[in-house]
Amino acid sequence: MPSSRHFNLASLFLLLTLSLSSAQITLYTGGTQTTAGADATSTASAPEGTYTGLAAYDPTVLTPPPAPEVPVTSYSLSVPANPQAVFDAGLQLSIGQKGNFLGFSVELSVANTIMGSSATNLKVPFLNYMANIQNRAGVGALIRVGGNSQEGSTIFVDKLPDGGILNKIKVSENPTETPIINYSVDLFYLMRNITSLVGVDWYFGLAFNQSDVDAPTGNVPIAATWAQQILGDNLLGLSVGNEPDLYVDHNKRTAPWGVSDYVTEYDDMKQSILTDGQLSNQVAFLGPSTCCDVAGFELDDVLNAGWLTQNVDNLAAVTVQHYPTNNCQINGNVINAQDIFADFLNHTSAVSQVSPYLGNSVTVQNAGKELVMLETNTASCGGFPGLSDSFGAAMWLTDYAFQMAWGNFSAALVHVGGQNVYYNPFTPPPSASDSSKQWTTGSIYYSSLVVAEAFGRSNASRIVDITPSTDTDANSIYHPAYAVYENDAVSRVVLFNFIDDNTGGNDLTVNVPANGASTVNVRYFRATSVSEQYEITWANQTLGTSFASDGRLYGDLVTVQVTCTDGNCPISVPAPSIALVFMTEDAVTASSPEADATTTYATSVIGSGSATVDTGALETSNGQNNQGSANGRTSKGGASSAMSRSNTRMGFLGGVVAGAGALLALLI
Ligand SMILES: *[C@@H]1O[C@H](CO)[C@@H](O)[C@H](O)[C@H]1NC(C)=O
Ligand SMILES: *[C@@H]1O[C@H](CO)[C@@H](O)[C@H](O)[C@H]1NC(C)=O
Ligand SMILES: *[C@@H]1O[C@H](CO)[C@@H](O)[C@H](O)[C@H]1NC(C)=O
Ligand SMILES: *[C@@H]1O[C@H](CO)[C@@H](O)[C@H](O)[C@H]1NC(C)=O
Ligand SMILES: *[C@@H]1O[C@H](CO)[C@@H](O)[C@H](O)[C@H]1NC(C)=O
Ligand SMILES: *[C@@H]1O[C@H](CO)[C@@H](O)[C@H](O)[C@H]1NC(C)=O
Ligand SMILES: *[C@@H]1O[C@H](CO)[C@@H](O)[C@H](O)[C@H]1NC(C)=O
Repeated sequence: MPSSRHFNLASLFLLLTLSLSSAQITLYTGGTQTTAGADATSTASAPEGTYTGLAAYDPTVLTPPPAPEVPVTSYSLSVPANPQAVFDAGLQLSIGQKGNFLGFSVELSVANTIMGSSATNLKVPFLNYMANIQNRAGVGALIRVGGNSQEGSTIFVDKLPDGGILNKIKVSENPTETPIINYSVDLFYLMRNITSLVGVDWYFGLAFNQSDVDAPTGNVPIAATWAQQILGDNLLGLSVGNEPDLYVDHNKRTAPWGVSDYVTEYDDMKQSILTDGQLSNQVAFLGPSTCCDVAGFELDDVLNAGWLTQNVDNLAAVTVQHYPTNNCQINGNVINAQDIFADFLNHTSAVSQVSPYLGNSVTVQNAGKELVMLETNTASCGGFPGLSDSFGAAMWLTDYAFQMAWGNFSAALVHVGGQNVYYNPFTPPPSASDSSKQWTTGSIYYSSLVVAEAFGRSNASRIVDITPSTDTDANSIYHPAYAVYENDAVSRVVLFNFIDDNTGGNDLTVNVPANGASTVNVRYFRATSVSEQYEITWANQTLGTSFASDGRLYGDLVTVQVTCTDGNCPISVPAPSIALVFMTEDAVTASSPEADATTTYATSVIGSGSATVDTGALETSNGQNNQGSANGRTSKGGASSAMSRSNTRMGFLGGVVAGAGALLALLI
């Protein structure tokens, strides 16, 4: 009977040392990898026999809301020149933010299809999606592994057949049904391997309380210990309890069960992990991850019940989870996506989603902790067809992310589910095939790139919402604006135009103060309509249509140079689009992948067995960049300089692969 009980923690360090020091390198070249084609922008039809009508590939296109009757075609934006001027204007500047602010929340039950089926089988398109962020943010992407499926009878086991990372015994879309998942130590090794390649930092979800189910006692402390030992500093926190405000609704607890019961159980759980596990870092816990505006069980209620003071010494961050709406169809309450599309297409949404947390964010900051939006997306229960995968949703998420950053959240993670949801930022092909170019990029993935470039690499970008009042711009709800400050000066300005109007009648010119610049550079997030699902570009590059992505950007990187005159830089913001204005040359450089950026991969799977890594097929992160720059266009990175770095990385990778055999053999 496999039980995690017999893991010997003392020998773990020895095993890790063995696996990392093993020097033998095995590299496979040639073989089955497909060379990534250049034309990711052409429409790709579903591969024969793979399209099954699953939500993630749903072709529904909504009707864009009408443009406002009276267009506003230009206005002058007031941009405080420095932080002092921000305060003098009565505005609030955020804490320092990192470029990886907008990350991902991977549902535990799909971690194997998204990230890799075993520690030795990594999904390369996924690595590429992460590398794109690392190359812009200078830090790895943030990922939480967890969700509803972390709870119930989900248990940690030492070993699964074929080195699998998890085994789904029972997972239902119905959150009231208890999932049963066995996940193995190989999940943590997979995560560590991902980190070694693309620098990801992790949040991990533990089952909250298994005393009522058929799981070995003491399982959670063991899982927590292994997670820390294997992931080290790259583990940012362990979440205990997922959406406890819904436990009664979801039949996980019997009413009456409320905040005080939660606080008691949280403490019991924490104590049992600290007592029975061997945590090297005891400032490790996340909570409460309340989500759903349940009266009497909101974040305020939990903080006020003494939870924060009681746990402050062991908290890595305070977490919440929130979706603006839902497609749960509770009690037959069906929401029509078309009816709510307009709700996502103006600044009111971002403001109203974040404002309820502003008081909490002060409390949490005063306690010396970070506030993290551990899970969010357009709508819970899978999102909506045509809405969650639209360009409009990606604009909305970008606005919402900036608003959370302004409100002093420290990170926000977009949920990733299976093929039966509409809102994924990326979805693997439905078949078991590991084909390299058949992933589907969801529109909202691009938001992470825009946010990464808006914050850049300083780790200290402070943001302020400078959306003009309606006195300045009668259509200002459609035209949110933000300024980013680094080193006490404005480094970037972000300008939105949420309006759908391909006649040009609602194209906008925003006059941005030059602040001494003679030219500024602009990158655009664009599509012809807010309803568009796939023909979406960031700085003229795209990840392509459904079943057509390998996680890399294709097309020429375009950065538009704008000449400023009389202290004014006229920035064109077409309807619809987002313009990211770089106020200094340094800001452009700090947002662009470097020549030695983390390599992205043209192959489909990295690892052992039949998988291949063709060193010759490695390319730079930007896909097909032009070398050099032409008018109004900059291009960073170069294949040749990236190659030596990639060889180094492959060497390390090979070393880890070779070491694994010994490790696994000893564990059996
Ligand atoms: C998986 O979990 C079930 C109980 O949920 C248990 O009976 C089974 O032995 C586990 N499998 C492995 C490989 O640990
Ligand atoms: C788990 O929950 C039950 C109620 O369902 C409670 O009685 C028990 O104390 C909890 N155990 C821990 C370790 O939190
Ligand atoms: C703007 O969005 C809010 C909700 O986010 C919605 O209630 C409102 O109707 C929208 N306004 C317009 C003009 O569409
Ligand atoms: C965010 O934190 C900074 C630094 O403490 C503070 O000055 C600012 O007012 C906060 N912003 C909000 C919206 O509370
Ligand atoms: C940003 O933070 C990361 C750690 O998260 C660190 O490795 C990096 O050096 C920092 N960058 C700067 C410019 O401080
Ligand atoms: C955008 O990229 C495409 C290649 O995908 C290229 O043909 C086009 O010229 C680029 N646009 C501009 C404005 O350079
Ligand atoms: C990942 O880690 C495991 C366990 O240490 C190992 O088996 C595997 O080879 C590593 N590397 C890769 C790229 O798969």
